[in-house]
Amino acid sequence: MSTREMQPERDDPAMRAVAARALDLIGGGALVGLGSGRTASVFVRMLGTRVRDGFSVTGVPASGATAALAREAGIPLVSLSEIELLDITVDGADEVAPNLDLMKGHGGALVRERIIASASRRQVILVGADKLVRRLGERFAVPVEVMPFAAGPVTRAIRAAGLRPGVRMDATGGRELVNENGNLTLDCALPAPLADAHAARALEASLLAMPGVVDTGLFLGTAERVLVGYPDGRVDTLLRDGVVR
Ligand code: A5P
Repeated sequence: MSTREMQPERDDPAMRAVAARALDLIGGGALVGLGSGRTASVFVRMLGTRVRDGFSVTGVPASGATAALAREAGIPLVSLSEIELLDITVDGADEVAPNLDLMKGHGGALVRERIIASASRRQVILVGADKLVRRLGERFAVPVEVMPFAAGPVTRAIRAAGLRPGVRMDATGGRELVNENGNLTLDCALPAPLADAHAARALEASLLAMPGVVDTGLFLGTAERVLVGYPDGRVDTLLRDGVVR
């Protein structure tokens, strides 16, 4: 379980507001992809409260930490092998661009988050307003999950492409962090934020072309909507066509 998930900000009003709004999108009997990170954890807890009150849903968790939280909250879980398609996935993000392209993965579960998102009819993202950026890469490095066997050549290739990769370390800072898939994460600092959607797609394609790269934290065109929370409890809904509700 990552430190961030072990210490969810239960009283963060923006997180609670978006999580509560996301509950309204969950129909009775829905199959729900459960993302990871602090905001997704707040949602899982609220969904669990609803389940304990008699609401019926089934979840597929994106990480061991989310699975443990969901079990504790009383949400029945299945594996992706047992179902055809999820109705909805609710997850967090680290950065959201105006076209709803996302940077994810700073909680360390990006591959499984990608898998449940791609197995879902819709991916709904919950963030605080501080996660809205003009260009991806303004605040965070791009996480790249890599097989340990390929870490050397991939690090060199990423460096040659002009980024500054650093292996993510565990909480003690003394060891490389090996994630649930047995892989490492390279946090790759960009020389400058990504100019536009094309630059994001070009970077994603070049990273995925490196043998040993499993996935990246660039989630481009996956979000159906983003719920943005504010400290006063207000929530905006951002849709792909630029509509704000
Ligand atoms: C986990 O791998 C991430 O993609 C999280 O969804 C993302 O880091 C947002 O997490 P927080 O809600 O904790 O900020």
